[in-house]
Amino acid sequence: LDIGGAGSSFIMVVGGLGYIGSHTVLELLKANYNVLVIDDLSNSYESVVQRIETLAIEHFAPLQRPMPALHFRQLDYRSPLMRSILAEYCSYTVSNKASPSTPIVSATPRFPFSTLHRTDSGIDMQQEDASETTLRRESRISGVIHFAAYKSVEESIRMPLRYYSNNVCGLVDFLSLLEEFGIKNFVFSSSATVYGEGANCGVPLREELCVHHPETYQDDDGIERQVSPGVLGLTSPYGRSKFMCESILADIARSDPSWSITALRYFNPVGCHESGLLGEDPRQKPSNLIPVIATVLAGTKPVLDIFGTDWSTPDGTAVRDFIHVVDLARGHIAALAASAAGRIKAPFRAYNLGTGRGHTVREVLQSLEKTSRRTIPAREVGRRAGDVGFCVAEVRRAETELEWKAVKTLKDCSVDVWNFTKDRCLQQASDEMEMQC
Ligand code: NAD
Ligand code: WQD
Repeated sequence: LDIGGAGSSFIMVVGGLGYIGSHTVLELLKANYNVLVIDDLSNSYESVVQRIETLAIEHFAPLQRPMPALHFRQLDYRSPLMRSILAEYCSYTVSNKASPSTPIVSATPRFPFSTLHRTDSGIDMQQEDASETTLRRESRISGVIHFAAYKSVEESIRMPLRYYSNNVCGLVDFLSLLEEFGIKNFVFSSSATVYGEGANCGVPLREELCVHHPETYQDDDGIERQVSPGVLGLTSPYGRSKFMCESILADIARSDPSWSITALRYFNPVGCHESGLLGEDPRQKPSNLIPVIATVLAGTKPVLDIFGTDWSTPDGTAVRDFIHVVDLARGHIAALAASAAGRIKAPFRAYNLGTGRGHTVREVLQSLEKTSRRTIPAREVGRRAGDVGFCVAEVRRAETELEWKAVKTLKDCSVDVWNFTKDRCLQQASDEMEMQC
């Protein structure tokens, strides 16, 4: 599916139709990037492409400017077909070997790739007349944002191989392919889960608490501290997969500093686009707090279980740093911009994306009750295995280096979630009426 005019360079978004990916694709278009989305729809729907397009057109129409290109390929990014897609997004220059600086042909369209082979000098040549001409290939993909992963903590405990296969092995093979095409600008969806039980320290989490090579840093009192790689108490294969991916990315960047790799450690992404057109709409049964509350509001679940009321927090329920998904999406644009502007000083760098502010589970519940003007049935149950009581971001690094800051509040999140939930309920009711008729 190709929407919009063809431009020169693209950002490839892998897993771009999911919850965070869809909001990010929209923000990329709004920031004038051409976008190529790869998604296998394992946890999303193709209709999201049209929703993104509608919102992008709404944005560009008053500006009287055409929207950038939005291309979508439905594909598992582990498929061998990824190589031909990447080849499609290259420009090619054929020149005579005798005068390589004078191109005979410059082209971006499809090329008979089967006739190419790679020489020692890294230049692709046409097999049959390799002695006469050289063919240079340059990718039109200027950056990649990688969202494609499975994300259920509970499922990862039951099916660890499924998680390691997609989240870790998939990433490794994909990185090899990107290297082959000279694409080295990479943004990775990481998670506060990499802090493991270290999160429970009760103060905002600094990036240095989880590093992949020995490092020193200055603490708030200016004292030089030594950090060893690794973290204690990662509680699930999902969490370990994110830590492993970050380690792999850090190793690659260390071996070849021409990479620019940004790992964005999301805290608790919530909310949705204010239009109600994009939101969290997974194929999987939701297990995160706000999507579960939404199912109670929609009447598909009778009661919210509050996991744990004995944490040492103001009301006994756990504290999290809830970040609006649109703020989070903009964090990815900020990361691309910071990398392009040379503000990221290391080939691998991790950033917390959070608000720096914590809210308890009860505060979230009350906020949604207030917005929806409904009572949300809830009961107190014991702690959920693997939970931590406190997890809040220290956000100075992202503010300084990415020049990005979350601006939306918990109230904004509640308003947008209620808007999205209400629309879905109305849609469901009208579908049911239609079926009855
Ligand atoms: P999501 O499931 O809504 O989106 C992931 C998208 O990737 C889906 O559209 C899915 O169909 C696609 N996908 C999965 N495997 C694929 C594959 N092999 N090939 C092609 N497409 C594939 O999840 P999300 O909440 O948008 O999360 C995006 C990323 O952010 C994930 O890497 C996740 O681990 C990470 N993350 C999410 C949260 C959160 O709470 N949502 C928090 C921290 C980190
Ligand atoms: C928040 C709080 C629950 C559901 C998870 C992953 C993490 C990251 C974000 C991807 C906790 C409580 C929840 C419910 C409840 N994902 N809760 N009743 O656990 O902070 O983080 O999602 O990377 O890796 O672990 O988020 O929304 O599941 O829970 O009381 O029905 O809400 O116990 O204290 P969490 P969450």
